[in-house]
This record gives sequence, structure tokens and C-alpha cells, in this order.
Amino acid sequence: MSESSKLNILVVGSGGREHALVQKCRQSPLAGRVIAAPGNGGMAAEVECFAISVEDIPALVELAQTQAIGLVVVGPEVPLSLGLVDALAAVGIPAYGPDQAGAQLEASKAFCKDFFARHQIPTAAYGTFTELAPALAYLEKHPAPIVIKASGLAAGKGVIMAETQEAAIAAIKDMLEGDAFGSSGREIVIEETLYGEEASIHVIVSGEDFVCLPASQDHKRVGEGDTGPNTGGMGAYTPTSRVTPALQAEIEAQVIRPTLAGLKADGIDYRGTLYAGLMLTEQGVKVLEYNVRFGDPETQVLLPMVADDLVPVLLASAKGEPLPSELKFHPGAAIVVVLAAAGYPGAYAKGEAIHLPESLPAHSAIVHAGTTRDADGTIRTAGGRVLGVSGQAASLADAARLAYSVCDQIEFADKYLRRDIGHRELNR
Ligand code: AMP
Ligand code: GLY
Repeated sequence: MSESSKLNILVVGSGGREHALVQKCRQSPLAGRVIAAPGNGGMAAEVECFAISVEDIPALVELAQTQAIGLVVVGPEVPLSLGLVDALAAVGIPAYGPDQAGAQLEASKAFCKDFFARHQIPTAAYGTFTELAPALAYLEKHPAPIVIKASGLAAGKGVIMAETQEAAIAAIKDMLEGDAFGSSGREIVIEETLYGEEASIHVIVSGEDFVCLPASQDHKRVGEGDTGPNTGGMGAYTPTSRVTPALQAEIEAQVIRPTLAGLKADGIDYRGTLYAGLMLTEQGVKVLEYNVRFGDPETQVLLPMVADDLVPVLLASAKGEPLPSELKFHPGAAIVVVLAAAGYPGAYAKGEAIHLPESLPAHSAIVHAGTTRDADGTIRTAGGRVLGVSGQAASLADAARLAYSVCDQIEFADKYLRRDIGHRELNR
């Protein structure tokens, strides 16, 4: 293929997910130049990065135009909910991700729950509220343990699992009357607590056409044994044996297909990733939430498992064209361990120099999340989640040994990691 017929790709975002997307796109024989905005220290060492915020929609559109971009891959939810895909479509540039209407599935938990109800998709029983009195009345009828959620985007922090009535009342008041969650909390969802094991299914969607990636599990709590506050995710692995082929078929029949049919019925031409956060309960599978983009850090294990060229699949989705009926995956398992700055998800230090190993063992990789790169090449910490170390092997146990051996060779002040990523699967 001639250089000029190749596809220039812009990846939007600055986390580990976007670094993994940059790496996957660069492997494609179809890819021309790959660039990122704003990128991070790891991406800057590999591709040209442009210092444009993911919220600056006009500047991102202008960048895509001036750089002759043929495919924009949008990493995070915020630009999707601000209408980046719509703005790019208006100038004829295909973008991977849903339009603003589709992005409501994640941007508004109230919208999402009403969508589930309208289309009979299994989920926790719930109510949505903007006023205190009816919220408290609902709580009287449905006492704790109960879950209180800020409806808007809250970077994974807007979910309170209230064990007691007092905690539930405090969370409701905090969200509706305080400003702990800003405008995200002016509308809340109160829902039944579900019990079971969680699993995530990532689906690449083009209208009613879809192709599933292997099931994965995230580790949202900061502490070992799944303790402490929720984070964006401290590690992930794929596949999970909990999602058997029979359960996968049930998820597709009861969750994915009705969702895509429901979106179409509601006039939404959905494209991009649909990420279903599922609870595997004794009463069957229930959807906890939808995200409208790839998970972080799940992407860091899912993309390396894809054996096919992903770029034509992303492009077909972006254009609303048919998808391949299935993707080929590598056998075995993959794991990613997040190296965070101690203190995260609370306050943490930034600007610490990071010492990385000179070379890596085969089938391992370091993906950058919150890092910057100095002019002399020094990499520094710049976020709560700093790096992700991934490993792929025939078994999850081997993948974990490989990833942790690399984690131990990375040094920075206040490095914090969980040592038990994959524990559920490893202990089965
Ligand atoms: P969400 O942002 O809605 O996925 O919630 C974040 C996390 O909170 C989920 O991954 C679950 O661990 C937990 N969670 C949310 N809703 C429920 C629920 N109804 N029952 C039990 N756990 C929940
Ligand atoms: N790892 C959870 C998320 O990306 O939402």
C-alpha cells in the first residue's frame, strides 16, 4: 500500500487506555501517521502529541483537519458526551465512539436506568430523584443496604454503597443539597444492592452489528482483597472463566441484542464501544452500568489479545459499516497491574522521576497512564495511576508472574500497587 493511501489516526486522551490504543493502531499495516492529543509521557516517546485538552472540541476538530486525519479514536467519555464525534462527522471525519445522543448511556445514569426499564434489560430495581423528600420516602420503603449514585459523570467516584439508613440519608443529602458532586449529583439514582461477582463485556458496535471482546474483570478498590475506596481501576485480567460460553450467549441474548435494538428504536445510531458492567447474581446476569468507551485498565489487556488487525474494525464501526462476524484472539490470558502514586484516589505527589528497566521480557509491556516526559527523556509521575504493566502467557498465573517481575524493576518515590490482581480467577 502506498504511503498516501494509508490512514492517519488521531487518538484522543491521555491515559493508559489511550497509550494501548496508540500501540495497537501503530501495529496496523493500514496505519499512516498516528498522533495523540493530549497524550502522555509514554505516547510522547512514540508518536507526536498535541497539547489540546480532551474537552476542547473545536481545537480537536481543527487538529484532525490540519493533520489530514482519516480516523479519530476517542478514548475517554468526556469528549464523547461533549459531542466530539458529532462535530467531526459535521466535517466528514470518521470517529470511533458514539455520538452525543449515544454517550448519554454513560453521561446520565438516570437516562441509562430508564433505558433499561423501557427495553426490559435486567438491572437493579431503582428510582431517580432530583428532590430530597421523594428520595427519602423511597429510602423508607427500600431500606439500607442500598446504593446511592450521582447521575452525571463523576470519574467513578459518584457511587456510595450505603450499609445503614444514616449513611444513605447522608449520601442523598450530600448529593442533592451539598456540592460534593457538583452538577453530577443534582440528579440521583437510588438502587437495590446486587450481590455476586462482577464481569465486564466490551462490545464493538456498528448500529445493530456487534463483535464482543473476551470477558474481563477490573479491580476497582484501591486495597488488596478489594478493600478501601473505589478507583478508576487498579488492575484487570482477561478472560474470566466465570463467563462460560453459555453465559456469554445469555449476555448477548438478554443484554447486548436488546440494548442495540433499544438504541435503534430510540433513534440512536450507536457506534463505538459499549462496555457493559455486569453483576453475575444468583437470579441471573444484571447490568450495573454502561460505559460508552473502552475501560481503563481493561483496554491494556483486551487489545493485546486481539490477533486481527483492529484498525479496519474501528474504522468500519466509525463509518457505521458492517463488522466482521468475529475477531480472532490469542490463546491464554493477559493481566495488567497498575502502578499508582501512594495516596491515590486521594491526594498524591507528582513530578517524581521514574526509573524504567532497559529491556522487557517477551510478552510484557509497560503502558503509561499519568506520566510526562522531559526534553531529556526523563519520565515523571503526573497522575494517580502512573503506569500499567501487562503480561500475556498461557495461563493467568504465568501472566501474573511475568507482569509482577516487571513491576518490581520499576522505581519511583511512593510507588503503590496491589499484589493480588486476578485473585478471584487464580483462586478458583
Ligand atoms: P458503577 O459506576 O455504576 O459501575 O458503580 C461502580 C461500582 O459500584 C460497580 O463496579 C460495583 O462494584 C458497585 N455497584 C454499583 N451499583 C451496584 C449495585 N446496585 N449493587 C452492588 N454494587 C454496585
Ligand atoms: N476500569 C473501569 C472503567 O474504565 O470504567
